Amino acid sequence: MKIIEKISEMQAISLNLKKYNKTVAIVPTMGFLHSGHLSLIEYAKQKADVVVTTLFVNPKQFAPHEDFDKYPRNIENDSKLAQESGSDFLFHPGILEMYPKGYSTSVKVESISQPFEGDFRPHFFEGVATVVAKLFNAVLPDIAVFGQKDYQQYLVIYRMIRDMNFPINLFLAPTLREADGLAMSSRNVYLNREERDSAAIIFVALENAKTAIAMGARERKIINAMMHKTLRENPSIRIDYAASAVADTLDTPDEFLPGDKVVLLIAVYIGKTRLIDNSLTQIPTVLDKDPAAFLEDSTI
Ligand code: PAF
Repeated sequence: MKIIEKISEMQAISLNLKKYNKTVAIVPTMGFLHSGHLSLIEYAKQKADVVVTTLFVNPKQFAPHEDFDKYPRNIENDSKLAQESGSDFLFHPGILEMYPKGYSTSVKVESISQPFEGDFRPHFFEGVATVVAKLFNAVLPDIAVFGQKDYQQYLVIYRMIRDMNFPINLFLAPTLREADGLAMSSRNVYLNREERDSAAIIFVALENAKTAIAMGARERKIINAMMHKTLRENPSIRIDYAASAVADTLDTPDEFLPGDKVVLLIAVYIGKTRLIDNSLTQIPTVLDKDPAAFLEDSTI
């Protein structure tokens, strides 16, 4: 695996590969790779001839009070892991290569960026869309692979690709989880033992809401209340949001309709660490159980 630091070199490599009809996949990361990232690289390897993993901790997606400085970094280990997972190139530009002096352009994706993460981290998606657009222009990929763990980010990138006519096929790869259901994340290293144990409740809240939907819950407020109730079992957890929405649009109707694809989204603080997770499900068209039974079971 070759490490590339210059945008012009990365572009030249990609253009050369295209001359030989090789397809290129990009897996954008901020490094500190874990099995979740490696599964994205392996997924990309199945979709394209050549995989470029990018590693850049993007200052533009962190607010001044957030964890840019302490975001975990380990380039030696990342190169080793990326290579072992089948990445052909690691694109690792410096900050000045990406944002030289006088840099003044940004990409803002309206609407889908606004709720949920957008409410709590208003700067975030503009920073993400800007850096991803630049990474696309550096790597010139045919295929891009993003993880479901950052589901709203995936929707923002999907919209950007369409609106800006990037000739890229976007794929959503599944979230990898620890044995107790906690979604793998580079930020999990911030958790102490007790916080790490508490963090499993996020997955429990998502699963409870999914079960309620399978049993007949349709009202958005009831579904959301169910996730809040589970998360509140641990009083040390601070909830930014625990919400449901139509999966493709993030619309929030009072009641979902049979057949609707729904995303359940959670963002919480466990101690000082902010974690996000989500789950995709579908409102059944035929119920497994009488809806009245769900209401009897429910203690909301
Ligand atoms: O998901 C991430 O790690 C980052 O938001 C991304 C897509 C690499 C952009 O910096």
